[in-house]
Amino acid sequence: MKTLTLVLNWKMNPTSKKEALALFSALKKNDKKIQQSKNKIKLILAPPAIYLDAISSKNKNTKIELSGQDIFYKKYGSYTGSISQQMLKDLGAKYSIVGHWERRKVFNEQNEDIAKKVHSLLDLKMKAIFCVGEEQRDEQGKFADFLEKQIISILKNVEITDYKNIFLAYEPVWAIGSTKEISKEEIELSIILIKKILVKNFGEKSKNIKILYGGSVNPENILNLLEIEGIDGFLLGRSGLDKNIFDKIIDNLLKI
Ligand code: PGA
Repeated sequence: MKTLTLVLNWKMNPTSKKEALALFSALKKNDKKIQQSKNKIKLILAPPAIYLDAISSKNKNTKIELSGQDIFYKKYGSYTGSISQQMLKDLGAKYSIVGHWERRKVFNEQNEDIAKKVHSLLDLKMKAIFCVGEEQRDEQGKFADFLEKQIISILKNVEITDYKNIFLAYEPVWAIGSTKEISKEEIELSIILIKKILVKNFGEKSKNIKILYGGSVNPENILNLLEIEGIDGFLLGRSGLDKNIFDKIIDNLLKI
């Protein structure tokens, strides 16, 4: 069994350090269960940056890795309100998510900004989890061009040797925060498309880029989605914030 990566993106939650530490301690229990099983599941937690220090100091004897949710691409300087990759690294984070749809939509981030963020993480020997995803699906397949543009503009100057340090998180906007059932067939089609886009533009070696799926993953659909070839893991929003739901996800994954 290959390693399955689960990235928990807590977004701007919870609202107190106390709650964040309580959630983290529940996550540690799941990590323990995983380590005692034969399954290879890697947990990556992306809490709000303000909790990273407290969480990092409690992250002893676990395999949980820490991530930021975003960075600015400069290491330091006069950029009020921003957090750099260097600062995240100092607090124990090895990764950062970049280009999440909420950053694109609410903070008007463009592919060019996201590309710079990916580079600044790689320059610092950190790993980048970059998000792409179409807002809408159309019968004519225009969404494929949209995805291709996003992927090319973010990956175009990345060295082949860095492909192993990159996760491409496919998060169709229509599936994020949704209550509708997610169609496995639609996601499967997108993953095939993304693989094709990668190989066409970046060659066979780009197959080393790991692909995550995100958007309304829950204990009920995760095993089904896991059957899709080419998926290396999942990016979880709501399911990573509810202790009981996440427990169920891990229990379900440990059954297989
Ligand atoms: P969701 O969020 O799992 O709550 O749909 C996913 C995400 O935004 O990464």
